[in-house]
Amino acid sequence: MHHVEIKRRMGEADIAAISVLLEAASIADGHRALGEHQWLDLVQGGREGFAGFVARESGRERIIAYAQISGGNGASWAVEYVVHPQWRSAGVELQEDLLSAALGEIAAQGGGHVHMWVPKPGPINDAVARAVGMRRGRDLIQMRRALPITEESAVISVRPFRTGEDEPAWLEVNNRAFRDHPEQGSWDLATVTEREYQPWFDPSGFLLHERDGRLAGFCWTKVHEPEDDLMNAAVMHQLGEIYVIAVDPDFQGHGLGRQLVLAGLASLCERGVSTGMLYVDHDNEAARRLYFSLGFVDDHTDRAYVTDVPAGGAGQPPGALGGA
Ligand SMILES: CC(C)(COP(=O)(O)OP(=O)(O)OC[C@H]1O[C@@H](n2cnc3c(N)ncnc32)[C@H](O)[C@@H]1OP(=O)(O)O)[C@@H](O)C(=O)NCCC(=O)NCCS
Repeated sequence: MHHVEIKRRMGEADIAAISVLLEAASIADGHRALGEHQWLDLVQGGREGFAGFVARESGRERIIAYAQISGGNGASWAVEYVVHPQWRSAGVELQEDLLSAALGEIAAQGGGHVHMWVPKPGPINDAVARAVGMRRGRDLIQMRRALPITEESAVISVRPFRTGEDEPAWLEVNNRAFRDHPEQGSWDLATVTEREYQPWFDPSGFLLHERDGRLAGFCWTKVHEPEDDLMNAAVMHQLGEIYVIAVDPDFQGHGLGRQLVLAGLASLCERGVSTGMLYVDHDNEAARRLYFSLGFVDDHTDRAYVTDVPAGGAGQPPGALGGA
């Protein structure tokens, strides 16, 4: 038996208890259990549209699964969930109850479009998603390559991002280049500022290329903490990410994207990175071809499951959920 409890605000004790579960899942999976946005939602104690769902074995304190929702971006919601490694083979019921509670809360808060990212999805994730009425959406591929690149180097000039100055021009190019992208295409000043406050933010690795006094493209890199790459910690390689890269549509198709990748990877190397990594939509043909041609190979896939939840829908009241 288990029960699911909803938490609309997170205290320090809640975050600590959830962190124990996340840590166990991270070690088992070899990657962080929550995405960056979702981790920020959790540690910031919950903002509007946030709720956490904690599943415990009945009569016990230990958290065996956790889900969270965050919204507020129009009627668009994100759901993530994590199950303790020892409870993954217990069937789909625990996961189904957790996600039903999450979707029920979204319905109660007015409903909307929901997406749920699952790293390295397997058949059980497809089954759970189906059981709660979600369908498969985007597949995001993580690609990697060893650094440095010795065959080729960037010949364009780049300069570091200037915090407090470059945001408007950067936002314009980012939103133009990613205009059809569901997560990257509608950033605003608050979104960038939030990233600038992150401990990993380093303007020296956020490279801009200008042409005729205009921002033409950028490559924003991120050096990961060594423990992020849990599976490979023993071999001591340092992971660095091409976090966001784009060329303004007016300048695409002239070799600038390739140059910016090379400049970004060189910058990562200067900061001690030995493995370059990035995420790309499986159907982003231009970017996929570019990365393949630079020696990147597929590492694994993350999958989004999606659904549209009607307002006040059929979600069960959290707390009333339980399973054998
Ligand atoms: C991906 C992107 C950065 C590439 O920049 P670009 O300056 O247009 O690319 P380049 O001119 O340097 O092209 C390099 C290679 O990319 C591939 N490529 C670029 N545009 C392509 C297209 N429209 N179709 C297929 N392949 C394409 C080709 O392999 C090309 O090599 P080639 O010229 O030898 O054929 C750019 O298209 C962009 O900003 N897209 C929107 C944002 C985005 O998707 N970012 C990547 C997220 S992971």
